[in-house]
Amino acid sequence: ATARAAQQQQQAEQAAAALTAEVLQREVARRRNFAIISHPDAGKTTMTEKLLLYGGAIHEAGEVKARKSSRSATSDWMELEKQRGISITSTALTFEFGGCQLNLLDTPGHQDFSEDTYRTLAAADNAVLLVDGAKGIEPQTRKLFAVARMRGLPVFTFVNKMDRPALNGFEIIEQLEKEFGLQSYPVNWPIGSGDRFVGVYHRPSQKVVMYEKSGAAGRAKGARRSEYALTDPELPSLMEPDLWEQLQEDVELLEVLGDELDMDGVMAGKVTPVFFGSAMNNFGVELFLQTFVEQAARPGPASTRQGVDVAPTSPNFTGLVFKLQANMDPKHRDKVAFVRVVSGKFEKGMKVRVARSGRTVTLAAPQRMFANERQTVQEGFAGDVIGLTNPGAFAIGDTLVTGPTLAFPPIPTFSPELFAYLRCAPNQKKPFLKGVEGLLGEGAVQVLYSTDEYITDPVLAAVGQLQFEVVQYRMKDEYGVDTTLEPLQYCVARWVKGGWPALEGVGRLFNTTVMKDVYDRPVLLFRNEFALQQVLGEHGPKLGELSPFALP
Ligand code: G4P
Repeated sequence: ATARAAQQQQQAEQAAAALTAEVLQREVARRRNFAIISHPDAGKTTMTEKLLLYGGAIHEAGEVKARKSSRSATSDWMELEKQRGISITSTALTFEFGGCQLNLLDTPGHQDFSEDTYRTLAAADNAVLLVDGAKGIEPQTRKLFAVARMRGLPVFTFVNKMDRPALNGFEIIEQLEKEFGLQSYPVNWPIGSGDRFVGVYHRPSQKVVMYEKSGAAGRAKGARRSEYALTDPELPSLMEPDLWEQLQEDVELLEVLGDELDMDGVMAGKVTPVFFGSAMNNFGVELFLQTFVEQAARPGPASTRQGVDVAPTSPNFTGLVFKLQANMDPKHRDKVAFVRVVSGKFEKGMKVRVARSGRTVTLAAPQRMFANERQTVQEGFAGDVIGLTNPGAFAIGDTLVTGPTLAFPPIPTFSPELFAYLRCAPNQKKPFLKGVEGLLGEGAVQVLYSTDEYITDPVLAAVGQLQFEVVQYRMKDEYGVDTTLEPLQYCVARWVKGGWPALEGVGRLFNTTVMKDVYDRPVLLFRNEFALQQVLGEHGPKLGELSPFALP
């Protein structure tokens, strides 16, 4: 009888494991995770709103915008963000479309917050490149694209604002090729732009989709239907003769470009499917979503420092902490750690180990962010982002595990370009140090110290001026400390890979200062790129390899 019971027990366990495996397979297969990269004003907020509208996550256009301007109600320091009209915080929005769960990682738009964007892109599987049709590729897009490229993310391009006078489609394609080395595969193609925007030609179906202004009866002149086959005899009468002629020419030219989509190229981030539309008028967004859901990369295996890959369907839970944020809700004085689920199933209340410290933590109050409202999450799978109230146990780049101890590779940081001593009044030293530690732990800013033991004031190292302002604002707001900044005349930082030994024997360095980071590693600061080149020319071999990023 005992043998039989044991056998039954084993069978039950096997059945449960098979069921879990099936659930994991199914859930991972329907996850699509992405971040939008764009230059401020290209229409990211508008696009996000329209995507959510399709997903049924919001019910009225204007909700995201409304949230954007009512943020001060939920967080004090975001007042700064309101004053400057920029988005500092990063959230993950979740919605359903076409049987898939889409997770949109919202990237901060302002260039000073590239650090955060870096981290957000470390948690993304796909990038949506949003381009203003009139302006083409802009500086901020270049910076962000470099990050997406480094991670080899598949890129989907949406050319927005076609209802305004725009560049020719071929000019955009050429920019993508020249600047990013991206081969384009136009999925749809614009017919006219601005006042003469008639619609798009959808290549896979060989149909023309007529432009309609959202809500209003704005359908293109004379069109009775929203779609026409390219061969439809009625079609030429629906646009001015030159546009019709242009369309036929374009269709031919596009065929020369190739009509087969190279999916391997898309997955490798070398080929980008391109869409044209108008987010504001909700035109072209659904077409985009349909293709995106089909073609976007699913959560894939992740490499680890241990050399083994973690499959997203592995039964063991693993997660990556990619962003920390304090005091999102001033009423609760809390901290949130954003975790990307990499494998297994996340469950509310589960116990995980932090690979770095070995500490076991119960994930008690998991949250998913919707704009600035929180919903408690019961479960999550690879590709999902979960906001955990942070008991101080997490640092950026931490790996959370339930199975064997594994660690994901470190998240790179941008090289700082601005440096300044941060100081306070002598009687505020205690809260000051607490504040520096808090903001540092959160990764809000990098900190360096002088090698002179009598100079104890921290040196803030930032990518943009706004990072300084945020630190000062938060020091005052959250820790009650008034601070002053004393800028340093340096703008290039290099970490010495060989450490202190590499610096010995190298004599006095011209126009250069040596500082140390919080891990006591030497960092060289240069007044300009020229000074760096000079030092390299003179001492390069002795100094050995230098890195623009904080070493892992
Ligand atoms: P961002 O988040 O990338 O910074 O851009 P956002 O969506 O806030 O859009 C920037 C401006 O561009 C907004 O105008 C928005 O309405 C407009 N816009 C977005 N998509 C389109 C489009 O497809 N066509 C046209 N014509 N305009 C578009 P605004 O005047 O700054 O704000 P609002 O008064 O319209 O809210």
